[in-house]
Amino acid sequence: MPDIRLRAAEPYRQDEHSTAVLPDRRKPNLQVRSFQQDKRRILFVTSELADLVKAGGLGDVSAALPRALAGLHDVRVLLPGYREVLDSGHPIRMVGGVAGHAALPPARIGRIDFDDGLIAYVLICPELYERAGTPYVDEQGRDWPDNHIRFARLGLAAADFASGRAGIRWCPDLLHSHDWPAAMTPAYLRWRGSATPVVFTIHNLAHQGLCSLECIPELGIPAAAGHIEGMELHGRLSFLKAGIAYADRVTTVSATYAREITTAEFGCGLEGFLRSKARQGLLSGIPNGIDESWDPATDPHLLDHFGGNDWQGKAANGAYTRRLFGLQDSPGPLFAVVSRLVYQKGLDLTHAQAAHIVAAGGQLAILGRGEPEVEQHMRELAQRFPGHVGVRIGFDETDARRLFAGSDFLLMPSRYEPCGLSQMYAQRFASLPIARRTGGLADTIEDGVSGFLFDQPSVASYRQAIDRALRVHACPPLLHAMRCRAMAARCFWSHAIDPYAELYQKLLERRREVRLPV
Ligand code: ADP
Ligand code: GLC
Repeated sequence: MPDIRLRAAEPYRQDEHSTAVLPDRRKPNLQVRSFQQDKRRILFVTSELADLVKAGGLGDVSAALPRALAGLHDVRVLLPGYREVLDSGHPIRMVGGVAGHAALPPARIGRIDFDDGLIAYVLICPELYERAGTPYVDEQGRDWPDNHIRFARLGLAAADFASGRAGIRWCPDLLHSHDWPAAMTPAYLRWRGSATPVVFTIHNLAHQGLCSLECIPELGIPAAAGHIEGMELHGRLSFLKAGIAYADRVTTVSATYAREITTAEFGCGLEGFLRSKARQGLLSGIPNGIDESWDPATDPHLLDHFGGNDWQGKAANGAYTRRLFGLQDSPGPLFAVVSRLVYQKGLDLTHAQAAHIVAAGGQLAILGRGEPEVEQHMRELAQRFPGHVGVRIGFDETDARRLFAGSDFLLMPSRYEPCGLSQMYAQRFASLPIARRTGGLADTIEDGVSGFLFDQPSVASYRQAIDRALRVHACPPLLHAMRCRAMAARCFWSHAIDPYAELYQKLLERRREVRLPV
């Protein structure tokens, strides 16, 4: 076994409330099943939690999936204590801590108890996490240069937690780590000699968490980790590869993306490795769901509700959206974009459709933030088509929900899309998605029934789908029928948790002897 000597954790106060017995106010919220006696302890390791901090769909999944599983297991979450987490107003109780290791500083662990019973552990390390910006980039959109330290710190804290070295009595039976920021969890755990099973979920293969091989001493990892059998990828270290290499099972967030990532087109250099995992039955696609708050009849974010025979509310949200985005009143179709403004999302393709949409009497409302040059292109579009194209650069949950509710169509011409949540939210709010047939978009949109799919990431292929949508908009009975089908799509987590539950069960049943890959 490689020798990575870790200093013993300082003696922290035991977390006296974190026993298997749930406090009275903790109610199994969404799912109530009859396996109470089999409840196991599961720790989600993630860099986002929508209640506290969210850059995209990962935050939503990290918040919704533990809650959906709460009837089956005691699922808690560990995430970094960014400034917005500490400033969120939720009381944080100090319950433990982890020792420093190599260049990773020591950190304390706090605990937040949400009203609905979810428990989040917060890794507090001001020098790494308390900064302005998003979890990953500074205010100018540049990656934090010490991201490898910041997120190795997260992975090692999770491994320490699971090895009983965090001073917290609640010790997970299984870890579920998400995406590259949490991908070092299984690696450190194996190097610790722990047999606690780990599920690693890829939400986006394109973000790998790469750093130089020279970071090995800083990260305090064995030299063999820098070899191809470890986490080396094209002469660098890939956190994401570590997750794939050292976890017991790898999942990704839709069946189609699980297949796509085994091909050169989508595999980001890891396709061969992923193919071998798939052949061994160690890679699978489990589709995301959405939480039940996405209900146009009750969502408190909306200006007015709708559904059934009452559609006035949709018009009210549409009127608000037009005002908010500086658009003229219009009976024409309103197209929405709610997105990270990044290459993945194909915003350049939407940019190229704007003139066509406006010429057809349509309007475009864009809400997003992301790469500075994409933001600039979007602003220019609004200047070119005043009153017809409106752009808001920023991140606002309420406006996003009102935009889904108020629009007729959602544009999602993604180059790739591991799952995608926005198209599911849009369908629930009767905004028909127009999307590329890839990843989770292909799996969650029924072409011509609940939305429109196109095949090629080209202006021409996308244009055909937009034209089909325009024709449907011109035919109210057809538009109404499609809206009703879209709203009825069964995409809630309550329908999607069984595959995770089965996977956890399998792994928990065979806690295995550790065989170190390096
Ligand atoms: P990704 O995770 O790749 O960004 P998803 O569709 O899975 O894509 O999830 C995106 C999530 O982020 C959705 O909840 C969407 O509504 C939300 N979102 C994206 N951009 C914004 C924004 N500017 N303001 C508010 N919510 C946003
Ligand atoms: C990633 C993907 C997105 C997915 C989300 C949640 O951000 O880009 O497709 O829906 O993770 O799994």
